[in-house]
Amino acid sequence: MSVLSQNPRKDFPNRPQFSGFMKPCRVEGEVLNLEVYGEIPKDIDGTFYRVMPDPQFSPFIKNDPWFNGDGSISAFKIKDGSVSFKQRFVRTEKFVREREAQRALLGKYRNKFTDAVEFKIRTTANTNVVHFNGKLLALKEDAPPYALDLHTLETTGLYDFDGQLPSLTFTAHPKFDPRTGEMLCFGYEAKGDGTPDICYYRIAPDGKFMETVWLTAPVLAMIHDFAVTENWVVFPIIPQLCDIERMKQGGEHWQWSPETPFYIGVLPRRGGRSSDLKWFRYQNSFPSHVANAYEDECGNIILDLGLSKMNVFFWWPDAQGKSPDPSSIHSQLTRFTINPKSEELDLVNSTILQSDNSEFYRIDDRFTTKPYKHCFFDLMNPALGTDFPTIMPQLGGGYPLYNALAHLNIETGVTEIYFPGKTHMVQEPVFIPRRGSSVEGDGYVMALVNNYVSMCSELHLLDTREFTKAKAVILMPLRLRQGLHGNWVEGKDLQAGANCRT
Ligand SMILES: [Fe+2]
Repeated sequence: MSVLSQNPRKDFPNRPQFSGFMKPCRVEGEVLNLEVYGEIPKDIDGTFYRVMPDPQFSPFIKNDPWFNGDGSISAFKIKDGSVSFKQRFVRTEKFVREREAQRALLGKYRNKFTDAVEFKIRTTANTNVVHFNGKLLALKEDAPPYALDLHTLETTGLYDFDGQLPSLTFTAHPKFDPRTGEMLCFGYEAKGDGTPDICYYRIAPDGKFMETVWLTAPVLAMIHDFAVTENWVVFPIIPQLCDIERMKQGGEHWQWSPETPFYIGVLPRRGGRSSDLKWFRYQNSFPSHVANAYEDECGNIILDLGLSKMNVFFWWPDAQGKSPDPSSIHSQLTRFTINPKSEELDLVNSTILQSDNSEFYRIDDRFTTKPYKHCFFDLMNPALGTDFPTIMPQLGGGYPLYNALAHLNIETGVTEIYFPGKTHMVQEPVFIPRRGSSVEGDGYVMALVNNYVSMCSELHLLDTREFTKAKAVILMPLRLRQGLHGNWVEGKDLQAGANCRT
């Protein structure tokens, strides 16, 4: 029996994740010389790449979550104070076959048993986009990367690192060591759906695999982000559990487990074996993105990440169908201090570094794995003055909202806030180092901003020396849906022959 109806729907469902600002955008093209208000400093020369889930076709399944959409890559090229914009879908197997069929063929998020056809690779490549070894890689944690041309955004194809990739999956959050140039990665459910295997690997700047370690997870659950220090790698597990039998019956890949602890795996970064892996435990919590990790003078791992007591992925409830009201979810930048040599695996303490509801933590990437003090992120604080009655009809939904950008000085505890306007929400920021300055956090922060009155997107550029007001606001003639992650790539690294990332 086919899961498809005879006539695929041409409209998108009347649900929050397909309404208002979240209405699919589906634009491919180019706009030169975007409108710039204010001034873009001349030392900024590079491209901001980001990716958003954006469904090419209306789904045939009910209540498809926002991030099951096709990966669409945006590139904002900045040079000499001007900005040009380019956008293109990743030509995944799913995208290409659906375009041929002129309808959606992929079923539920990460459930192949609900698909209309059998896919070899069913990824949407919609979660992150990184620059590595002269390639742009579009990532989602359920498959290998897709490689794209850095300049045209044309898809080169599925990328298995010339046959070296040992796992079926590849994280959307690889880490780059600024000292060695290595890309550190892992895959979970690495031998296929419902397998407890984690595969950890280090890749040299020239693309050669240096080390692979196969590991086993204590629970079959989501591992979205991870952390790296000079000597350790850290795997935070989200208590969203997979059950292959539930999937075969057409259910969800994920189900929230309020009984499962928050596991934190710790493995030597180099030369580790599966027997060296330790699973520390903390009370049931939802770990979101990692800000940074490093080792203190005593050899403890300092791990900074977002943490919520509630299920942030509220659209995947627990076994009783319960999930929190999205407006009640509060995630805070939280620090764990872990002695990797300890035999006591139960963690009882954590420290909240910043108490506001926050997400999408970014740092000066030159300080990844090192002691650091500057963190930039999205924050939601209704007291800042957002005009909710005006924007509510256009908000759409299915994703968390953040109304300001924050800069936390971890050393002083002081948070500076940039409020983009009463009818605006912010997306993930990126940090751009100031040319010629090696001082941590000295540079610019840029983020895409949703304007719910013009119903268009804007890029807001801040100077970290004067964080609370915009240096430049760049207007777009179109609306870009809520995205996930992106990265800044310096112009010198985009030139032909450039082989390194930083
Ligand atoms: Fe992420």
